[in-house]
Amino acid sequence: MNNLQTVVLIPGDGIGPEVTDAVKRILDKAQAPLQWVEHQAGLAALEQSKEVLPAQTIASIEHHGIALKGPCTTPVAKGFRSVNVQLRKRLNLYAAVRPVRSLPGVPTRYENVDLIIVRENTEGLYSGVENEITPGVVMSMKVATDKGCQRIAQWAFRYATRRKRQRITVFHKANIMKITDGLFLDTARMIHEDEYPNIQHDDSIIDAGCMKLVQDPTQFDILLLENLYGDVVSDLCAGLVGGLGVVPGANIGDDYAVFEAVHGSAPDIAGKNIANPLALLMSSVMMLNHLTEKTKKNEFKLVANKIKNAYNLALVDGCKTGDLGGDLGTSQFADAVIERLNG
Ligand code: NAI
Repeated sequence: MNNLQTVVLIPGDGIGPEVTDAVKRILDKAQAPLQWVEHQAGLAALEQSKEVLPAQTIASIEHHGIALKGPCTTPVAKGFRSVNVQLRKRLNLYAAVRPVRSLPGVPTRYENVDLIIVRENTEGLYSGVENEITPGVVMSMKVATDKGCQRIAQWAFRYATRRKRQRITVFHKANIMKITDGLFLDTARMIHEDEYPNIQHDDSIIDAGCMKLVQDPTQFDILLLENLYGDVVSDLCAGLVGGLGVVPGANIGDDYAVFEAVHGSAPDIAGKNIANPLALLMSSVMMLNHLTEKTKKNEFKLVANKIKNAYNLALVDGCKTGDLGGDLGTSQFADAVIERLNG
């Protein structure tokens, strides 16, 4: 027996293996009290086992409770159902949380952006329930349930309380989708009134909300969105703080948690050692903080802080990958972070 926490590592597709390798190297050098068990998902899994989401991968996450995952490719307009959607559904990872923050050394149009996206991860249009009703007529079903709306709203208000956040804004389109988005909005409103009156709560129709976001993102604190809106707004917000290379994420349920960047497998830059590993590195810091809360062991927190400090120092020193205007490759950026682990 040792005191190491086992984490399932899923390299994924495209830039996935490059960024997971860089992040694993940094975590190991930072002496994170972790040990890894590697499993495949996505195209990589298909090549090995003829399944995009092998039973062993699911079983291993169920057993160890926690995973760090690279992105998985989903074919467009054909082919298999998204591995990410399947994974989130199978493990009931109903809350996606994505902190969007300005970074030192990464100048953008706005300073001091600090907002959290909480995305419902299992329902809505994103479920991909589609049919051809008759030739030439197709439809897609948007699903919202009491249970789904309640648990994500509860999660968001609990999170706001724990993190001492002030306000939750729901983005919706309940003027058009009166029943589905109406349920999402009313449920959040009810939970606010009944259980969390001390957290401010408001809402915005999503089109106007997007306009407000690009005009001044600092006016928001926590955004609560159903699945598809959360997906789209996450990328929009990434664009406000430096792009997809700098926004981390976590998919969290009552029993398991899978940490992954917001970005996808970026096939256009895969295999070239130019992808930014920072978004996945920041996701791994979220994972260490999650482990601190779960196990009450401070050693995870210490390593999380050490890594955060090191990547901030690297950015301030101008060590950046090409997406941030720098000239470092994926592995060189990882080296720059490793060099700064001791301050
Ligand atoms: P994408 O996020 O992979 O890429 C969009 C753009 O951002 C590309 O130009 C890419 O080069 C750039 N980019 C993304 N991550 C970067 C990084 N770390 N460093 C530097 N540049 C980065 O989105 P796209 O192209 O729409 O999707 C590609 C594939 O990824 C699709 O198959 C999609 O289904 C999948 N995907 C998977 C996700 C996941 O596994 N969680 C999430 C989003 C998309």
